Amino acid sequence: MHLLIPAAGSGRRMGSQRNKLLLTLLGKPLLSWTLAAAEASGHITWIGIMGQPEDFPDFQVILGDLSLAKPVKLIQGGATRQESVYNGLQALPLNADRVLIHDGARCLATPELFDRAADALLSCPGLIVAVPVKDTIKVVDEHRIVRQTPERSNLWAAQTPQGFEVKLLKKCHEEGREKGWEVTDDAALFEKCGLPVTIVEGEETNLKVTTPVDLALAEFILRQRRDRSK
Ligand code: CTP
Ligand code: MG
Repeated sequence: MHLLIPAAGSGRRMGSQRNKLLLTLLGKPLLSWTLAAAEASGHITWIGIMGQPEDFPDFQVILGDLSLAKPVKLIQGGATRQESVYNGLQALPLNADRVLIHDGARCLATPELFDRAADALLSCPGLIVAVPVKDTIKVVDEHRIVRQTPERSNLWAAQTPQGFEVKLLKKCHEEGREKGWEVTDDAALFEKCGLPVTIVEGEETNLKVTTPVDLALAEFILRQRRDRSK
């Protein structure tokens, strides 16, 4: 199973000067934690990382420190996550039949989560890992007036990895480019093309490190995992 890791963002909401994936957690860069989980997954055989060329020297250092057994390819990212994934899809080896896409910023995803998604992808064309939402969600208009309260039991928070048949996802990305769709995950393109997206149980700890609070939470969780395994 092939894995693509979007890692070409700038981390604007983190408020840091550089790509947030280069910030450290317990002394190791965020991206390093993500890669270590991918390396430990039994299903993943190939890893593509989409990044901005100015970050490649730092990525090379991370890869040098990890010395992964799996082949890794650095791919030039785009201006948006959607564009970065598009570039990643073009760079997949020709034999890639199914692909998992996992945000570099979700550095707490476990190898078991990758394997669960990879297993499920053998029997459906598209999937996301997700968790039931805990908050009541409101749909709000431009005046900040609440317009709707969707039934919570139908709501799931989408995470990554997300997995797809390569041929289908490529088609959806092409259609998205033609029609100018702007989306924040790949499943949204799949849905817009009328294709089914299956839910696979995610992990509550699989947070996307987005703001400084997330960084503190992620470090806390990693420290707990480390102490438990002592
Ligand atoms: N990403 C990407 N290419 C982009 C933008 C984002 O590959 N042009 C990646 C990020 O590196 C991250 C993932 O997509 O791993 C999810 O994006 P997000 O959490 O929004 O990260 P950033 O875009 O870096 O953060 P922000 O939106 O706060 O600037
Ligand atoms: Mg972003």
